[in-house]
Amino acid sequence: MPYQHLLLSVQDRIATLTVNRPDKLNALNSALIGELGSAIDDLQRREDVAGIILTGAGRAFVAGADISELAAVSALEGKRLARRGQEIFRRFEISPKPTIAAVNGFALGGGCELAMSCQMRIASDGAKFGQPEVKLGLIPGYGGTQRLPRLVGRGRALQLLLTGEMIDAQEAYRIGLVNRVVTADQLMPSATALIQQMLTNAPLAVAACIDMVDRGLEMPLDDSLSLEATQFGVLIATTDTAEGTRAFLEKRAPRFRGA
Ligand code: COA
Repeated sequence: MPYQHLLLSVQDRIATLTVNRPDKLNALNSALIGELGSAIDDLQRREDVAGIILTGAGRAFVAGADISELAAVSALEGKRLARRGQEIFRRFEISPKPTIAAVNGFALGGGCELAMSCQMRIASDGAKFGQPEVKLGLIPGYGGTQRLPRLVGRGRALQLLLTGEMIDAQEAYRIGLVNRVVTADQLMPSATALIQQMLTNAPLAVAACIDMVDRGLEMPLDDSLSLEATQFGVLIATTDTAEGTRAFLEKRAPRFRGA
């Protein structure tokens, strides 16, 4: 499906989705957010895709929501706008196919929120992160007030949210906002290698880990441990577990089928 503001390429079961509105630093207008929703749904359906990298064209990952669309919005419309973005971003977070944000430049406001909605983040050394909404009289509306403290802790999150300051990639790494920092030329190779490493593993187990971390973190520990045991039981009876254990004993690489 052709997109107006997104580029899509698929190679070796890895889809690279590039936000492509570089003249506006990939600011997220309403159409672009809708396309992100369509794209993540399409990628879930595609059998030739097993992992997803999200990046930006030009010098930004995403420099936030499109500020030109934020003036003259009613309270009700504002709430709808935030809910729609939250719901679409959430699909990246709970995708059973691993999602990685390859942050190539500015990840501000909605851009930082979009990166945080991906399951992992790799940053190029020139990337910049921040939640500058307070400077506009706003708060983040695509999950920033919730995911940032969950990722970096309450005190650091509040510092970023209340100052609106930008931090560089090294600081983002230091506080746990990104998994890894690499040079710009290593950004895509590094994201690709990380996903490839995951794709050698059993797909049902990979998807179950994503689901368990996502749901389990929000549950009381005894409940999430019980859920983990149930999932363990489901997986232990799969063909892939039989293959994985047999391959180990036969000292060969496993051939997983996702069953
Ligand atoms: N919404 C709409 N347009 C945006 C945008 C956004 N969030 N971020 C950047 N742009 C546009 C600029 O208006 C400019 O467009 P123009 O060339 O038609 O004037 C273009 O992208 C380039 O941005 P510019 O500000 O000239 O680049 P810069 O290098 O001087 O500054 C930033 C880069 C990221 C520091 C600056 O663009 C910025 O602060 N952007 C807004 C970040 C923000 O507040 N995001 C949260 C929104 S809720």
